Amino acid sequence: MKPSTKTRVPEALARLPGQPVAAIDTPSLVIDLDPMRRNLMRMAEFARKHRVRWRPHAKMHKSTALARLQLQSGAVGVCVQKTAEAEAMAAGGITDIFISNEVIAPHKLARVAALAHELAAAHGQLAIAVDSTEGVTRLAQAMNEARRQHGAPAVINVFVEIDVGQGRCGVAPGGPALALVHEVRNHAALRFAGLQAYHGAAQHLRSPEHRREAIARVVEHVLDTRALIERQGIAVELVTGAGTGSMVCEAASGVFGELQAGSFLFMDADYARNERDPAQPVFEHALFVKTQVISAAADHAVCDAGHKSHAIDSGLPRVVGWPGGELAFANGGDEHGILRPIAADRKLPAVGDVLWLVPGHCDPTVNLHDYMIAVAGGLHGGTVERIVRVDARGALT
Ligand SMILES: Cc1ncc(COP(=O)(O)O)c(C=O)c1O
Repeated sequence: MKPSTKTRVPEALARLPGQPVAAIDTPSLVIDLDPMRRNLMRMAEFARKHRVRWRPHAKMHKSTALARLQLQSGAVGVCVQKTAEAEAMAAGGITDIFISNEVIAPHKLARVAALAHELAAAHGQLAIAVDSTEGVTRLAQAMNEARRQHGAPAVINVFVEIDVGQGRCGVAPGGPALALVHEVRNHAALRFAGLQAYHGAAQHLRSPEHRREAIARVVEHVLDTRALIERQGIAVELVTGAGTGSMVCEAASGVFGELQAGSFLFMDADYARNERDPAQPVFEHALFVKTQVISAAADHAVCDAGHKSHAIDSGLPRVVGWPGGELAFANGGDEHGILRPIAADRKLPAVGDVLWLVPGHCDPTVNLHDYMIAVAGGLHGGTVERIVRVDARGALT
């Protein structure tokens, strides 16, 4: 594997392990390791109980250290969304990677094919999703070229992605999916590995009933398509999909062999707005922005975390643990958050007070930071355990 090209941890961060939480500068992205480890353990237990594999989505944490921890806890590999994320994971020693997304540009497919060979040489494997004839043809061309260059006949596992209701990527279920399976099987360097059926929009339906209904339709599409393929004598070895919001439904379906949930590890404020399915493990918030109040007026306080420290596409962060009562966070721009008490009689924080924010959406929040500071023993009395590099930060290509 190629070594990571990123630079060393900056001096100020390198000194933090062993120091109290109070030593962490603001704004900083902080992992509360105790709940994160409980989330990990609950996910592993859930997968064991339902006899499904789990391949967590590393687009969420973008960290090879956390990917390794997930593998040590029983994950079979990781999903990524981008070629550059796959390369970053491979550079960090992860050898079983699924690009659960379509890649079309020939120069990117050349990188995909090179990575497939690199991972095969390390006794690992690369998989990718496809949803078009063009995509299959180009992938096969790239793989054939790489085979010529490497002189070794590596294969890439190919999942035919079906659109199961989100209206994003995916070939239509049924006949069009079957036709694409045939296309994949026409190329020696491509190995048909199964179906990807992911319904992103279903993840954030607030009631468990609505999520169950949405995934019941997903399962119907998968069953129909799988039966059609198998009637041709072609095995569908694996159906992969599911996110944190709906994973209990896919796991219970008996059809999905692999869960791709990613956010369960950190649990953001938006996912906490979902009404929990009783079958869902209890996942706790484990990712926080530490922020400090830098200005205060009679009716509001201002903290030093704006939308350069947390993503706001799924709503503003929630302020947690402020003893004076619940605070509403209003967007103060790039570098500021404006805080007001929810009840008029409650106390505002003063200049210098430290607050903790739960980001609205963990994936794009992580992508705003080079490092996460991992704390054990709690956000209040705890100690910095380690610095976690966001290896695939900005890995968008
Ligand atoms: C294809 C795919 N699989 C799995 C996931 C993981 O979802 P989550 O992080 O919500 O658990 C995503 C997230 O967007 C995704 O796009």
